[in-house]
Amino acid sequence: MEHFSQTLKQKIAQRDKMLVKDQKRFMKHLFLALEEMRSKGVIHRDLKPDNIMIRKNKGEEECVIIDFGLATFIDALPYLYFRCGTPGFLSPEIANLTNKKEKQQPSSDVFSLGCIFYRM
Ligand SMILES: Nc1ncnc2c1ncn2[C@@H]1O[C@H](COP(=O)(O)OP(=O)(O)OP(=O)(O)O)[C@@H](O)[C@H]1O
Ligand SMILES: [Mg+2]
Repeated sequence: MEHFSQTLKQKIAQRDKMLVKDQKRFMKHLFLALEEMRSKGVIHRDLKPDNIMIRKNKGEEECVIIDFGLATFIDALPYLYFRCGTPGFLSPEIANLTNKKEKQQPSSDVFSLGCIFYRM
């Protein structure tokens, strides 16, 4: 019974409605999601407000990561796309990658979360 209303990008666009307590909850849930992905050896590689949807749960808004189109298992070398992401959210270590066989790290997703937090 998922009920998504909008993406985080749309939410950020309506600046005045973004409460600090919502920002805190969103960040907490995003970090928990990354922790879960890390435990499964998965990196998302394209975290940005367009790829996060908001849903209502017991009257409170929470966010959900979507669009795993560029996600990969960390060990699945060589990756289908070795350098990918979105400028503005992309970590410097991925932006500067030259070696196609280099393993990418979950910390690159954490960098993107930092960029998302800044946008909020
Ligand atoms: N699980 C979902 N539940 C509800 N809506 C979704 C879900 N996944 C995607 N959408 C809708 O589809 C849109 C695009 O999804 P997604 O980011 O997965 O695709 P995309 O390949 O990035 O597409 P685009 O290039 O159009 O951004 C989202 O902005 C959202 O409106
Ligand atoms: Mg998308």
